[in-house]
Amino acid sequence: MEKAVELDNQYPATHRDAMCIPTYESMGLRAPSANFSKFSPVTYLCGNSLGCMPRATREAVNSELDAWADRAVESHFRHRGEPQGLTSWVDIDLPLSNLLPSVVGGLESEVAVMGSLTANLNALLVAFYRPNSQKFKIICEKGAFPSDFYAFLNQCAIHGVDPEEALVRLEPREGETYLRTDDIIKAISENSEQLALVCLPGIQYYTGQLFDMKKITLYAHQFEDVVVGWDLAHAVGNVPLQLHDWGVDFACWCSYKYLNAGPGGIAGIFVHEKHAQVASHTQEGYMPRLAGWWGNNRERRFQMKEVFEPISGALGFRQSNPSVIDVVALRSSLEVIKDFGGIEALRERSLLLTGYLLKLLQNSPFYHESLTATPQSKPGFTIITPLDEDERGAQLSLLFSPHHDDPKLDTMEQVFKYLNERGVIVDERRPDVIRIAPAPLYNTFQDVFRTVDLLNKALQHV
Ligand SMILES: Cc1ncc(COP(=O)(O)O)c(C=O)c1O
Repeated sequence: MEKAVELDNQYPATHRDAMCIPTYESMGLRAPSANFSKFSPVTYLCGNSLGCMPRATREAVNSELDAWADRAVESHFRHRGEPQGLTSWVDIDLPLSNLLPSVVGGLESEVAVMGSLTANLNALLVAFYRPNSQKFKIICEKGAFPSDFYAFLNQCAIHGVDPEEALVRLEPREGETYLRTDDIIKAISENSEQLALVCLPGIQYYTGQLFDMKKITLYAHQFEDVVVGWDLAHAVGNVPLQLHDWGVDFACWCSYKYLNAGPGGIAGIFVHEKHAQVASHTQEGYMPRLAGWWGNNRERRFQMKEVFEPISGALGFRQSNPSVIDVVALRSSLEVIKDFGGIEALRERSLLLTGYLLKLLQNSPFYHESLTATPQSKPGFTIITPLDEDERGAQLSLLFSPHHDDPKLDTMEQVFKYLNERGVIVDERRPDVIRIAPAPLYNTFQDVFRTVDLLNKALQHV
């Protein structure tokens, strides 16, 4: 523990107090020992699932509730908080144009907040996936987040292409836990003649693998008419991105994980500037899309004309007026991230925290280097995330064995329960994986130490 304290002094979580970390009392848990009170924060290592709430969010949301109560519809154009720098609702999402692009490495015009992740993925697929008899294949993963797979599957149905033929679903080699970049490159090359789209996650939700987005994007673009899109749910706010420079065609993400915008918070899209410059839907080069009035020319939006003049850039892909409450929740979190020093500073601290986690786990007597090295009978775990820091974000995924269908006997279930009862909040993926993600904005080295210490005790107990 002394080492963890030393590391916390050396690399302090300067913005931990800006966040609400749940307490034993608020979680309905008993403080585990005399060293903790009911008001002590739990050890929350689940920011890969739902980030903690920034303290500023409550006030930001309350200001909008006040605006609704006090001026109702007039707040769209005459917000009561304007003198204090608040934005009228008609432009509520525009202040994010100063905050979000640097997080994803996009130009201001290439980024918009709207909708939710799966809805946005579907919308972007409508715009970007245009199969024909020659080019119709989609390279995706076998273990993709199901929502993404359903979206790909339904694109095939919409376009009348056979998913068995169209979906090239990549999976790790036999005995390996994550995809090799070379195998992705090979698949692109082998399918290039029929390839329409490469759509992969920036970071894989289950294994925590960080894909080489730059290499894959640049490689795929060597081939004619191949579009590259990324699902950045687990990458945004976790690792630095350079979507513009890499030439990514489109990307989408949710903002409730490392962006701490709250459950179901407003999501985001990136559309490269090369795709969104045309001033009217009647002009050549216009990209057909799922359209709505909020993507239309701002000055003429309320004239209700029957001409669609998209705002150039990603804003032209918005459909509806955004949820004001959701937008300000995201803004208050992005302001904390900016104040911390932005995504580069977060990544620097993240590498230290997750590197420390990895070291402690590898020193555990229950750690095994690979699945095959794990004895069948004894409880233990292996790490299925790439060990190289350039190939992972904040999260490490631990695969436990042996597995029993009965949760009372199953190793992972018993470890998860043991940790949870003692206020270590991590994330289980049945049947046998626990994901642990120290969030650099608010987690400490002591959080990491305590987690591994209790994990070892849990395995002893099993
Ligand atoms: C990789 C990935 N894709 C898609 C989703 C679905 O997100 P939503 O429910 O916000 O559409 C998630 C949710 O966690 C995810 O992790």
